[in-house]
Amino acid sequence: MRSPEHHLFVCGSFRANGAPAGACAKKASLALVQHLQEEVDSRGLGGVLVSMTGCLNCCVNGPVVVDYPSGNWYKGVTEDSADEILDAIENGEVAEQHLIKG
Ligand code: FES
Repeated sequence: MRSPEHHLFVCGSFRANGAPAGACAKKASLALVQHLQEEVDSRGLGGVLVSMTGCLNCCVNGPVVVDYPSGNWYKGVTEDSADEILDAIENGEVAEQHLIKG
């Protein structure tokens, strides 16, 4: 398997006990994973993988999505902003307006 060009990790808020109890899950990050996967599939973005993670310890910015290997962290990601992030990826750009800065 080749390394993905973009591996999008979506916070699923999972705690050590396995419960999706954190801020991102409460703001629909679980549905966001499905949305991102469907968009990636429909756009034919073979170089993009979507995975769910545990809490990324950046809860105040949730829902959080991290893109590796670029290392870009996105905050407050909704289905609309996820589409903008994918638009930017398709164009070889970064959705700067959604980045966690600092
Ligand atoms: S619950 Fe998502 S970063 Fe902590």
